[in-house]
Amino acid sequence: MGWLAWERFRCNTDCKNDPENCISERLFRSMADLLVNEGYASLGYEYINVDDCWLEKERNAFGQLVPDRQRFPRGMKSLSDYVHSKGLKFGIYQDFGNYTCAGYPGILGYLETDANTFADWSVDFVKLDGCYSHPLEMDSGYPEFGYYLNLTGRPMLYACSWPVYQIYAGMQPNFSSIVTHCNMWRNFDDIQDSWASVESIMDYYGNNQDGIVPNAGPGHWNDPDMLIIGNFGLSYEQSKTQMAIWAILAAPLLMSVDLRTIRPEYKAILQNKKIIGVDQDPLGIQGRRIYKHKGIEIWSRPITPLYQNYFSYAVAFVNRRTDGTPSDVAVTLKELGYFSYAVAFVNRRTDGTPSDVAVTLKELGLASPTGYRVEDLYEDVDYGVLSPQTKIKVKVNPSGVVILRADVQADYNRRVPFYTTQR
Ligand code: GLA
Repeated sequence: MGWLAWERFRCNTDCKNDPENCISERLFRSMADLLVNEGYASLGYEYINVDDCWLEKERNAFGQLVPDRQRFPRGMKSLSDYVHSKGLKFGIYQDFGNYTCAGYPGILGYLETDANTFADWSVDFVKLDGCYSHPLEMDSGYPEFGYYLNLTGRPMLYACSWPVYQIYAGMQPNFSSIVTHCNMWRNFDDIQDSWASVESIMDYYGNNQDGIVPNAGPGHWNDPDMLIIGNFGLSYEQSKTQMAIWAILAAPLLMSVDLRTIRPEYKAILQNKKIIGVDQDPLGIQGRRIYKHKGIEIWSRPITPLYQNYFSYAVAFVNRRTDGTPSDVAVTLKELGYFSYAVAFVNRRTDGTPSDVAVTLKELGLASPTGYRVEDLYEDVDYGVLSPQTKIKVKVNPSGVVILRADVQADYNRRVPFYTTQR
């Protein structure tokens, strides 16, 4: 979780005419200040990430990267130190090619040098983009750069664009290798400041979920790209939808917004603790789109049962067969009923009036006979403890969302306290 410059601030290098918004140490320092002072950091937003357009056009005589001297006069180590002094982490951008996407020096020929430079600057996060490179070479090149990052001995989160460029080139990415070598990776198009862009990303992840979802887990995440909440292109409803669906997708939450001017209602979405809790759920299981019909979608994600804080389980498997040979039994924890769920209802109709959606918990795959305590994560609505047969009814605004949390109960008579009061 953190803040990333690109979607909002792009490649604005004009510090003469636009000193407040150009890609410069001033911008990143003020975003670091706001991340802490406006309460984002205490909710988990910890990275301040530089994207493209921070470099001089040439490397120095030792082949090392040089930050733009006008815009980063004190250099990257100084900026990194500043970010660290705030208790935050510092991220940087490079490209596995001859040039970055915006035409600055890329990493080819300098993998080891740049890994060492980043470690010297106390970088915590490296995004390695893929413009001006050969997608075929990524299968060896991305792991090679990861090897040099590891060789520095400094832990750096490794964000890859490896699969998306291979998919564009018509290749089938080797996801088992990507999962091994990268901490997160882009699968699809850059997000833009529009609802159409958010919808296209939701569609991509929903339509391709069988190949995508199993790759996610602690330490290795699919990255549907930045949160654009608080900018120009999304309405309030659409912003709530992006936050809810990104949480279902177990997505990295990298905000790209001007924290100096964001309006309070958008800040509240980005600071919704309950939805952040879903996003950051320790099981790290990415959710799925489980229903899509006539503009109504339902997305669902298994999350850690709260009662694990109270109870562990002994589970006995008994074999009463008499066929003389041991039997294998395979069962998921989910089949034992041990997951809670976050469930998001999305209305993509444009007919201007809220739509009712009614469904039983069982139809959502929530079948534990002990029942579920259900609450709304945006509105203050407590549905109480519901059995799997109970029909739940929600009203979903056009391009909006209702997101619920259903906490499986340990036993129907001993109710687990509320999520909100417990944390
Ligand atoms: C690519 C990436 C974006 C951004 C730009 C910078 O398009 O996908 O996220 O980093 O390059 O030029």
